[in-house]
Amino acid sequence: MHLSRLLLAAALAASSAASSNVTIYSNESFVPDNRLPTSHATSDGGEIVNLFLQLSRSTTWKLISKTKLEGDTGEPEGMVRVGDSRLFVSSGQWTVPTEKYNTTINGTDRTTGAGFAHMIIYDLQGQRIANATLTAPGDIEYHGGGIDYDGRYIWITIAQYRPNSTATIARIDPLNLEQTRLFRTHDHNGGIVHDTTTDELVTLNWGARNATTWSLRKYPRRFTPFPGFTPPVRSVANPSFFVDYQDCKFLGHHSIPSLVAFQNPSSWSRHGLVRPVMLCGGVATISSYNLGGLALVDLETMLPLWEVPISLTSDLGVSLTQNPVDAQVVDGKLRVWFLPDQRNSTLYIYEAQ
Ligand SMILES: *[C@@H]1O[C@H](CO)[C@@H](O)[C@H](O)[C@H]1NC(C)=O
Ligand SMILES: *[C@@H]1O[C@H](CO)[C@@H](O)[C@H](O)[C@H]1NC(C)=O
Ligand SMILES: *[C@@H]1O[C@H](CO)[C@@H](O)[C@H](O)[C@H]1NC(C)=O
Ligand SMILES: *[C@@H]1O[C@H](CO)[C@@H](O)[C@H](O)[C@H]1NC(C)=O
Ligand SMILES: *[C@@H]1O[C@H](CO)[C@@H](O)[C@H](O)[C@H]1NC(C)=O
Ligand SMILES: *[C@@H]1O[C@H](CO)[C@@H](O)[C@H](O)[C@H]1NC(C)=O
Ligand SMILES: *[C@@H]1O[C@H](CO)[C@@H](O)[C@H](O)[C@H]1NC(C)=O
Ligand SMILES: *[C@@H]1O[C@H](CO)[C@@H](O)[C@H](O)[C@H]1NC(C)=O
Repeated sequence: MHLSRLLLAAALAASSAASSNVTIYSNESFVPDNRLPTSHATSDGGEIVNLFLQLSRSTTWKLISKTKLEGDTGEPEGMVRVGDSRLFVSSGQWTVPTEKYNTTINGTDRTTGAGFAHMIIYDLQGQRIANATLTAPGDIEYHGGGIDYDGRYIWITIAQYRPNSTATIARIDPLNLEQTRLFRTHDHNGGIVHDTTTDELVTLNWGARNATTWSLRKYPRRFTPFPGFTPPVRSVANPSFFVDYQDCKFLGHHSIPSLVAFQNPSSWSRHGLVRPVMLCGGVATISSYNLGGLALVDLETMLPLWEVPISLTSDLGVSLTQNPVDAQVVDGKLRVWFLPDQRNSTLYIYEAQ
């Protein structure tokens, strides 16, 4: 076993591994045959990047399928396709709405509200398999955000549902829905991805205005014990105001041909022209217009590598990129998965023509 993995195992043993509060709806296994599929980074990530770099504002999107998800989905925040038969959805159940203060109090702008973070497993026909409650009654960190699957775990942020607050970074085992809470951050964090090449986590704060990086390799034993906050390795401001990213997927480290023109070794800190890439979806409300979009983003610098607006909406009129996104490649074509609506959700799959 690699030394850093041993240290990580020791650190995790000391952190809190919560027993799960899971409702089972079907006697199918959470992941068929307990066989964990590969992540994007080790399978189709490069193909997704290459196909994404061919998209433009005039790409035609063809509807492939619409699948109604069973039950009350709350507010879907993140999703990951785990192999060819499972969808894991991070969703929020809000029981007391937050209320805006008339002023800034303790650095934030609204009351805590109340609710629960859930992780729900669906089969790809939309039938519920299980529903885990990830938080306890009364927890003020009850907002589960975007999620990422790394080939072993699903990573999630569980945050207060207000800006400039706090969050706990956790991973969920898809085989049994058990969560392990690793450390707390002194900010609201929404999206998260795990760069399995560098063994770093990158989290996005409220509105994805900045990205913070945490090393699992470098600091395995240096997570501040709960309820203290662990300082990040670094943080960068997001220079893109196109859309606020909601849900991202790590795709691996890839060379980006359009960057060759900017080749200047000193301007790229560690990876040269091979960049760590994530796929992100989100929206920006500009006046009363809700702009949707998808982007490939360099997760070290937060520089957008390629961006496309998405004007498609759900049957209920919600921008398709309002909430979770994921992607897959079928017969050499890029398919994007969207789960925009709250409570009564339909999974939309579109293919770029
Ligand atoms: C459990 O699975 C078996 C076979 O897969 C099926 O026949 C049975 O109806 C299932 N039971 C329930 C309660 O879903
Ligand atoms: C998950 O559980 C919560 C709490 O019981 C419930 O409100 C919600 O409807 C469930 N969601 C689904 C899709 O079953
Ligand atoms: C904000 O101000 C309004 C009117 O002054 C008041 O009714 C409301 O309760 C205040 N809200 C909060 C959260 O303090
Ligand atoms: C502000 O923070 C202090 C110290 O943590 C706390 O006692 C107080 O209740 C907070 N105020 C509000 C309105 O949340
Ligand atoms: C959060 O903090 C940032 C930086 O201190 C500040 O610019 C921003 O207005 C704050 N946001 C809210 C909603 O309080
Ligand atoms: C389990 O989750 C439900 C909400 O889905 C909550 O009402 C209940 O109190 C939770 N149980 C425990 C032990 O946390
Ligand atoms: C990112 O946000 C955190 C928390 O508000 C702040 O401490 C940090 O300075 C920010 N970083 C950048 C580069 O804006
Ligand atoms: C859910 O939405 C579909 C259309 O998207 C609609 O036909 C159905 O009646 C809705 N169900 C509920 C319970 O609102």
